[in-house]
Amino acid sequence: MAPCSRLLGIVAAALGLCASSEAAYKQKSPAFTYTSAATGLQLGGPSLAPEIRVAPDDLPGVIRAANDLAADFGRVLGVNGTVVVADWSATIAQKLPSRPIIIVGTVGKSSLIDGLVSSKKLDTAAIAKKWETFSYQVTATPWDGRDAVFVIAGSDLRGTVFGIYDVTEQIGVSPWHYWADVPPTKREYIWARNSSHTEGPPSIKFRGIFLNDEAPALTGWGKANFKQSQYGSAFVTEFYKHIFDLVLRLKGNYVWPAMWSSMFYLDDPKNGPAATEYGIFMGTSHHEPMARADKEQGRFLKGSWDWKSNKAGVQSFMDEGATRSKNWSTVYTLGMRGSGDAASATLSSSALEEIISWQQSSLTKALGKPLSEIPQAWVMYKEVPGYWSNGMKVSDDVTLLWSDDNRGNIRRIPTDAELRRAGGSGMYYHFDYVGDPRNYKWINTIQLQKTWEQMTLAHDSGNKNIWIANVGDLKALELPTAHFMALAWDRDSFSDPDSTRDWLKAWSGRQFGEAAAEAAASIMTTYGKLTARMKYEDLSRSPFAFSTANYDEADLNYKEWVDLLAKAQAVYDSLSADVQDSFFEIVLHPVLAGKTVFEIYSKVAISAVYAKEHRVSANQFTKDAAAAFTADQAITKRFHTLKNGKWNHFMDQTHLGYNNWQEPSSNSVPKGTSVSGSATNALMGVSIQAGSSAFPGSAKLTLSAVTPFDPPNIDRWIDVYIRDTGSFSYSITSNATFVSVTNARQTVSTSSGSTDIRSVVTVDWKAAPAGSSVVTLTITNLNQTGTTATVIVPVENLSVPSDFKGHVETDRTVSIEAEHFSKPASASEYVVVPDFGRTLSGVRLPPKFASQSPGKGPVLVYPFYTFTNSVDASVTVYLAPSENATPNSPNRYTISVDGGGLTTVQPVPATSGSSQPAGWADAVIRNAYVKASKVGKLAPGKHELKVYLLESTMVITKVVVDLGGVKSSLLGPPESGRAV
Ligand SMILES: *[C@@H]1O[C@H](CO)[C@@H](O)[C@H](O)[C@H]1NC(C)=O
Ligand SMILES: *[C@@H]1O[C@H](CO)[C@@H](O)[C@H](O)[C@H]1NC(C)=O
Ligand SMILES: *[C@@H]1O[C@H](CO)[C@@H](O)[C@H](O)[C@H]1NC(C)=O
Repeated sequence: MAPCSRLLGIVAAALGLCASSEAAYKQKSPAFTYTSAATGLQLGGPSLAPEIRVAPDDLPGVIRAANDLAADFGRVLGVNGTVVVADWSATIAQKLPSRPIIIVGTVGKSSLIDGLVSSKKLDTAAIAKKWETFSYQVTATPWDGRDAVFVIAGSDLRGTVFGIYDVTEQIGVSPWHYWADVPPTKREYIWARNSSHTEGPPSIKFRGIFLNDEAPALTGWGKANFKQSQYGSAFVTEFYKHIFDLVLRLKGNYVWPAMWSSMFYLDDPKNGPAATEYGIFMGTSHHEPMARADKEQGRFLKGSWDWKSNKAGVQSFMDEGATRSKNWSTVYTLGMRGSGDAASATLSSSALEEIISWQQSSLTKALGKPLSEIPQAWVMYKEVPGYWSNGMKVSDDVTLLWSDDNRGNIRRIPTDAELRRAGGSGMYYHFDYVGDPRNYKWINTIQLQKTWEQMTLAHDSGNKNIWIANVGDLKALELPTAHFMALAWDRDSFSDPDSTRDWLKAWSGRQFGEAAAEAAASIMTTYGKLTARMKYEDLSRSPFAFSTANYDEADLNYKEWVDLLAKAQAVYDSLSADVQDSFFEIVLHPVLAGKTVFEIYSKVAISAVYAKEHRVSANQFTKDAAAAFTADQAITKRFHTLKNGKWNHFMDQTHLGYNNWQEPSSNSVPKGTSVSGSATNALMGVSIQAGSSAFPGSAKLTLSAVTPFDPPNIDRWIDVYIRDTGSFSYSITSNATFVSVTNARQTVSTSSGSTDIRSVVTVDWKAAPAGSSVVTLTITNLNQTGTTATVIVPVENLSVPSDFKGHVETDRTVSIEAEHFSKPASASEYVVVPDFGRTLSGVRLPPKFASQSPGKGPVLVYPFYTFTNSVDASVTVYLAPSENATPNSPNRYTISVDGGGLTTVQPVPATSGSSQPAGWADAVIRNAYVKASKVGKLAPGKHELKVYLLESTMVITKVVVDLGGVKSSLLGPPESGRAV
């Protein structure tokens, strides 16, 4: 079957034709085999490891990486390779050894590579003169007396280094060998196939990570493991070697160093040269221009950090940054902000123009190079874009580094005029943040599909020169970091919207073994969905975000965590001991720790509801929440004792009990609510699903109507429970044979612990009369004569015409997941992004799709059927919290019901200057914009809702038609049943 192309995909997916086994992520074909005999060239076997030859004239960073190649063969085979530094003539003079030979080198730098090229044994035309490109292959009879060698050739320093690490990753050494303890794959044999492999240049020129907000975790860990510098920082070269190793193995080339209490270039004088030797471009963060750390200002700046009043002092400070770094690989941050990540009170656009042009002259003087050869970035962060939009002029050589809103929503895509600038544009993106509305810096809360959606938008809109991700303390963000770097290296391999799931499966296979790959990918996909509903730090808001009353939302959400943990624990238990630690660090820990936090907040919220009903089980929920708080501490300790304490301090971050944007000084939890004293009037209590009152307060309770089209996971239930100490038996009887309940006769008792029993109402639709009927359930306390509760069950045995296909009203609500459109009505270009968002998926236009006018262009069609005669219906659209990223063309959508008038909605209001739009904080916390529009009268029968997205910078996730029945919740009503 053909793979699901983008356009075909939607139609095929709707028809169920997309085979999920199709690999949507472009995998590379394996270059190696691991059997005792194979065709190709043997590189390793029992007691046999390759000799790695590198030319003495090659770059020091290549020779360094060649040693990693030798060591990595050792990790896999158990016997190390050896590195021989030898030039071409010495190499061809040596007819032996019989050991396998790997030649590594850089085109134009390595006499070995150039020797092979000039003797026509190697063709480097496909890589030469390209940025960061490599190839590797078996080369037959490279010289007389030698049958074959394996050659890794790079176009430049990083090209060669990436070629080396690409080979080591393929044979079985993970980029995460150090940072996440991924063990090497042990192999007896390694053979190179007779095929060649070429990669590069990368999709994004400069790509990397920012270590930020690095206390307490990374800082505490650093201090425990590295000798501190004279300035008290532990971020010395021995530390950065681990960072550079990781970044290069992820095929990155760019790092912003930790900076809140450290000074990269001074904490270890070897830091700058080491980065350069490794091949890493260093930058400094958005408010640290000219390669000087913020913390250097306090020690070395004469006068204040103010251009207006202290130009000379600021200039000499900046000059020193340029001079100091002149021999090191650097992407220079230009511009200026106020002190310490704040806007400046005195800067104007014209002052900034002057600053940047002065900085450029300082750089050309210090480096002795033309501006076009000096990488420069101006970070359009927070207030900074305001200067630019005021018409500021900035040299074309500077990359405009755009930013997200700190919560993963891109604020701006470049205009065509901006794209014509030589320096191009880039994206500064957050996986971790400290600031309004709340920090998120404990563990991973990133949904990979959202990263895919936003970063493909960034790339395809032209932000290709720089990508930098704020990865906080790095550890705990392994997965989003790996995904981001893979996208930045090769965006084309992620062209399918479901490529992330396939990438995740392949990635999981490399870290945890093939047997666990599918399950790990599925677990982390669900994890991304559950954390997309709300970040941990936001959960302490009151009232609890998930509804304890409606749609069983709080219960079902927590149950998803419980199920997810069971799955993750089962995979962990199935793994061999050597893989368990890395699986724990990347998969089991976030699931376990996340479930525990959700348990605390969910159970505290539920205890309050139960206590109002005087359910004694409220006390158990309160106890459980307190036990979960203790468990949270134990989970932290477990992390800290892994690998004999290797990762001690990494979970020092407080995360429970936030009450403003800043982290609390210690973890705390609200107390659950307990029941005390005696129940006043009855031992028996009865509650119903989504009920607003309970028995004995109300003798008669009415469930919402049951229909054949109810969402499958939402039961109509009745809870019978004890309101005090004791026990009683009860029966539930129905006055109609077509309605029955589970647990119709039971005993509840405090001593047995069975204090609450749930009965689920079921309807035999074949036996039920057509249309509306009312059924009475009578709950009788068999031990207390006269204590009976009545539950009324409205039964709506409704049907739709056989030719109707679409969603059907239940309980005055029609809820539709966005991807369940009937079909594109015109030549639609809508793309379903699987696993995106809080419930099922998202739908967007492809990036760069032209802005549309209301009611024009591609349309999503949703047929639906109603029974209620509604005079005041409304349509609610659920969208991802995307910003108005297209200049002068805000996100808008148009709806129309039954071909009636068009209603156009702009979900995100315009902003003045660079401030966040009104409603932004609420939207990012809930991870959705939810906008309702009145559509007026809707007679019972068939209808058709049309939705047009007018911008490609927005994603729709759900639509809900409200006929007066929609109840409040975080995620919206669960999807209604569908006639097919
Ligand atoms: C293999 O190389 C590693 C890394 O350089 C080193 O630690 C180890 O001792 C070497 N093993 C042997 C047997 O030489
Ligand atoms: C069951 O009770 C309801 C509500 O009192 C009543 O309308 C209905 O007719 C009863 N059904 C039967 C079969 O008695
Ligand atoms: C309650 O009633 C049930 C059913 O009649 C009976 O089996 C049970 O012994 C009674 N329990 C008490 C505590 O009276």
